[in-house]
Amino acid sequence: MPSYLVTGAARGLGYALVKVLASDPTNTVLALARNKKAAEDSLATDRISNVYVIAADITDETALKAAAKEADAILGGKGLDVLINNAAYVSEKTALTSIPDQESDLQKIIEDTQRSIEVNVFGSLKVTIAFLDLVRQGQLKKVVAISSGMGDIDMINEIKLSNAVPYAISKGALNVMVAKLSASYSDQGILFMSLCPGRVDTTKGFMPEFTEIDLARIKSIETKFEKYAGGNYVASPPEASARSVLAAISRQSLAGGFGGSFYSHNGTKRWT
Ligand SMILES: NC(=O)c1ccc[n+]([C@@H]2O[C@H](COP(=O)([O-])OP(=O)(O)OC[C@H]3O[C@@H](n4cnc5c(N)ncnc54)[C@H](OP(=O)(O)O)[C@@H]3O)[C@@H](O)[C@H]2O)c1
Repeated sequence: MPSYLVTGAARGLGYALVKVLASDPTNTVLALARNKKAAEDSLATDRISNVYVIAADITDETALKAAAKEADAILGGKGLDVLINNAAYVSEKTALTSIPDQESDLQKIIEDTQRSIEVNVFGSLKVTIAFLDLVRQGQLKKVVAISSGMGDIDMINEIKLSNAVPYAISKGALNVMVAKLSASYSDQGILFMSLCPGRVDTTKGFMPEFTEIDLARIKSIETKFEKYAGGNYVASPPEASARSVLAAISRQSLAGGFGGSFYSHNGTKRWT
């Protein structure tokens, strides 16, 4: 009866992970969300009643300590098997721009990078440390960071992908932090690893209004991705991606050499 805790569980990939996990009644599923009501409303709409929703912002250490206490009570002293650090600040402010676009206003890029690191790196670290004792008590002892190929320097260099600087820096830093956590805790039998879920359609059909310049930038980025993917670079539905991510989590182990690793959900170093 494995137990899972997923952060950023109110929407997007996080909610899909919770939904797929809850479809197996032998799982104990904990959903961490800063907007508890939004998570509960979605679960109620989908008629899912076997998920425990816990409120916490991942940048708030006090709230995370209280959340870990709440989780411990739910888990009844058995510990947590799998912690999935999924929550992230996916910046829209700088998604389409590159460093040359910001030469006259570096502050914008610096502030957005600080925010991205605050949530995506330090937030994941705070969650990990708050729940580490529970993971130590669990059977599977897996801590998974949902990262992104955007933080892979080989892909950046291969297709000269210059946009989304703050997000990419934060995911690159997250991968290094995961390796450092593995270097520190793998002797305790804990697997730390990063996984990229591929491109996931988490927009729910919402499309912001783009300017002509935005549209030209989108076209240039898409052309690069298509070259990388060798064809259409299509986004997967969230539940399909969640299933693939969960399969990778169950396949990959410390004994199999995955400590501190960064792979795509499909087990490769290609991020499509
Ligand atoms: N979508 C893709 O194509 C793609 C590709 C590669 C990697 N990823 C990674 O996959 C993960 C999920 O992506 P997504 O597309 O589902 O993102 P998303 O739709 O933007 O959802 C992000 C989630 O993180 C939560 N979150 C953000 N800041 C938080 C904070 N300070 N405390 C607690 N929760 C916070 C959000 O909560 P609220 O609902 O309260 O805002 C939301 O539930 C992310 O790590 C992302 O980097 C996504």
